[in-house]
Amino acid sequence: MPRPKILYQCQGCGYASPKWLGKCPDCGGWNSFVEEERVTKLKSQKTAQPVVLSEIAPSTGTRFSTGIRELDRTLGGGVVMGSVVLIGGDPGIGKSTIILQALRGLAELGKVLYVSGEESPEQVKLRAERLQISSDKIILLPETSLEGIISVAREIDPQVIVIDSIQTIFSLELPSAPGSVGQIRECATKLMFHAKKHGVPLFIIGHVTKEGAIAGPKVLEHIVDTVLYFEGDKGNPFRILRAVKNRFGSTNEIGVFEMQESGLMEVDNPSQLFLSERPLNVPGSVVTVSIEGTRPLLVEIQALVTASNFGVPRRTALGVDYNRINLLIAVLDKRLGMQLGGMDIFVNVVGGLKIEEPAIDMGIIAAIASSFKNNTIEATTFTFGEIGLSGEVRGISQAETRIKEAVKLGFTKGIVPVNNVQTLEGHDMEIIGVKNVEEAVEILFY
Ligand code: TYD
Ligand code: MG
Repeated sequence: MPRPKILYQCQGCGYASPKWLGKCPDCGGWNSFVEEERVTKLKSQKTAQPVVLSEIAPSTGTRFSTGIRELDRTLGGGVVMGSVVLIGGDPGIGKSTIILQALRGLAELGKVLYVSGEESPEQVKLRAERLQISSDKIILLPETSLEGIISVAREIDPQVIVIDSIQTIFSLELPSAPGSVGQIRECATKLMFHAKKHGVPLFIIGHVTKEGAIAGPKVLEHIVDTVLYFEGDKGNPFRILRAVKNRFGSTNEIGVFEMQESGLMEVDNPSQLFLSERPLNVPGSVVTVSIEGTRPLLVEIQALVTASNFGVPRRTALGVDYNRINLLIAVLDKRLGMQLGGMDIFVNVVGGLKIEEPAIDMGIIAAIASSFKNNTIEATTFTFGEIGLSGEVRGISQAETRIKEAVKLGFTKGIVPVNNVQTLEGHDMEIIGVKNVEEAVEILFY
């Protein structure tokens, strides 16, 4: 019998090496190599037939509602049959909760199988009682072996399968421990084959490691159709479910929830929610409009600028990119002569939201300038626009959508890129176009 081929694989990125390494040459992780058995190549029994594109019947695109509108939206309009959805997030953020709530809706399709490798049926029952879910269509399976799960799935033929969580599942055919890259990849792939073959949607829950990558890491993202990621912090009841990848819908679509005593509640008007605790007429606070997926969101950006007590001033960015903040501070310094070099600067997007869009640059600049000058921005004014290195304010996409959302929430004055102004006529609001940061700051603080 040939000796099984062993290789060492990085648990962070999946890099494989024939010998053990202390540091991964690919992702730079330390002490991340674990012994794995080399998986022999899968043999394909049937070769696929070539088809002419124009002769393919259009897919009916059957989707099913989970009964949770915000979840349906992030999925691109409901669950697609045979699709594999990965839900990632920190432990305790609400992954098991949302999936159980979704199962209530999906149970209308027929039997659903909830594989819980982490909690006993009693614990799941307790949560279900809290969520007031009781259905004879939801079948619990406290099993962690892949082979066991697949054989039960074959037997009861469920309409939906949920794996909570993939880190606890292991295949008897592999020597490595549950949660290792090899196990996660193997288990997810086998489960996916089952889901595709039987046309049932498969939800896989995955915990996130400290570094923020979905553990069993990037490996899983390639396998699945949709990756949803839970954002939010523990001290804050708001939870944002973001589609990071979606083969069946637009990415970056978000669903907004609030964690309450009896589960996750949908938030119908997130802009209103994010602005609900806004302090009015306080320096350092400004409202900007971001587009997340297909939806405009009004958010408050806060900045605090204080004299630094140390040689190296502190710069803290919460919800926005740290490098972006430094760039914008440099622009303010150079273009407006603001002496920010000796200042500690903190910038925060209120509500635990993370925004990557450059359209909020103007909001960041306005908030920092407002705090620095100790001068307030009118409560009914908002601003958006991208800022370039020479201080120019650049036009952005979907300006009209943003303005409409602002009108809806009662804003009366918008400071926007001059290039966007022509497209924005006919709104019940004063719209001022600005070319550069000098102009913007002048108008904001007259
Ligand atoms: P859970 O879904 O178990 O998190 P995960 O599966 O992502 O690890 O959620 C756990 C947290 O949610 C826990 O701190 C309790 C809280 N929670 C509520 O506030 N209300 C509820 O109705 C439920 C079910 C949980
Ligand atoms: Mg859980």
